Amino acid sequence: MNKIRLGFIGAGALATTLSVAFKQNGFNITAVSSRGFESAKTLAERLDDCRAAANNQEVADYADLVFIATPDDVIPVVASQVSWRKGQMVVHCSGADPVDILNPAKKAGSQIGVFHPLQTFAAKPEENLKGITFAVEAEEPLLTQLKEMARILGGNVIELKSKDRAIYHAAAVFACNYLVTLTDIAADLWESIDVPRDKAVMALLPLMRGTINNIESIGVANSLTGPIARGDSGTVKKHLTALDKIDPDITGLYRELGLNTIPIAIKKGKLNKSQAEDIERILKQPILQPECKKQ
Ligand SMILES: NC(=O)c1ccc[n+]([C@@H]2O[C@H](COP(=O)([O-])OP(=O)(O)OC[C@H]3O[C@@H](n4cnc5c(N)ncnc54)[C@H](OP(=O)(O)O)[C@@H]3O)[C@@H](O)[C@H]2O)c1
Repeated sequence: MNKIRLGFIGAGALATTLSVAFKQNGFNITAVSSRGFESAKTLAERLDDCRAAANNQEVADYADLVFIATPDDVIPVVASQVSWRKGQMVVHCSGADPVDILNPAKKAGSQIGVFHPLQTFAAKPEENLKGITFAVEAEEPLLTQLKEMARILGGNVIELKSKDRAIYHAAAVFACNYLVTLTDIAADLWESIDVPRDKAVMALLPLMRGTINNIESIGVANSLTGPIARGDSGTVKKHLTALDKIDPDITGLYRELGLNTIPIAIKKGKLNKSQAEDIERILKQPILQPECKKQ
């Protein structure tokens, strides 16, 4: 397997992580390209005996298995611009896109597939692959090959059908990207009470780590603490009133998340039916700030 020549079209966060990891595991990376030449050159310098290709066609010409690691919207463009060969393997790394965006390669006689690492690559990417899940999709024999490559990188494998990819990826956005969004909102709120952002983030991080550790050790429902888990409806009311003065959109988000938290609290077994109904009513009813009450 390690004799296969791998090529990367795209030399960004994902391509860097995967190509370096494959190289460390004995694979031969022969060519990388990028939109501008600079990132391909930088990545090629990290991979011995790898050419920084002047264009995407050169990668296809020098590789048996090509990873298209461009932004999602560019994948179909690349797939249709390159002249693929019979017997070549062409894979994209998007979580949400179906395999058939690579159909131009299939028409040329290539095997096509998807190889999506369920991980976020932003800082120190090489450390992030062990134990992750790779969602793969392909026909045989490429399917077996991609599964084996995922295992060599220390990952687990799930097989996904194209029709399920958008939901699979939307779930990943909730668990990963929106965690960043929620952290940003929390830091904004602390800023509104004059705590500098960086201090806020540093203070919130142990709380977030503690939550993630709890999810790992005792499961999702048991990890839920806070006013909804305790049935503290008065605290929920105070939150809504305070948030509404700062930003009604954030109050709306708090309400939505709160309503989705009630079933988790019930599952945990700490919230009884009448407490749940009380909190649901509070979360659904509009806040009357003092000036509104006068009217
Ligand atoms: N980052 C993640 O956490 C992550 C995780 C899982 C899957 N993915 C998937 O991995 C893929 C790449 O994402 P990314 O985060 O690595 O993106 P990225 O960091 O923005 O890198 C994109 C790369 O594509 C290159 N590129 C853009 N247009 C091109 C073209 N027409 N021809 C050749 N190269 C082109 C860019 O070149 P320049 O450097 O010259 O601009 C850049 O090197 C996406 O399908 C994404 O869904 C990403």
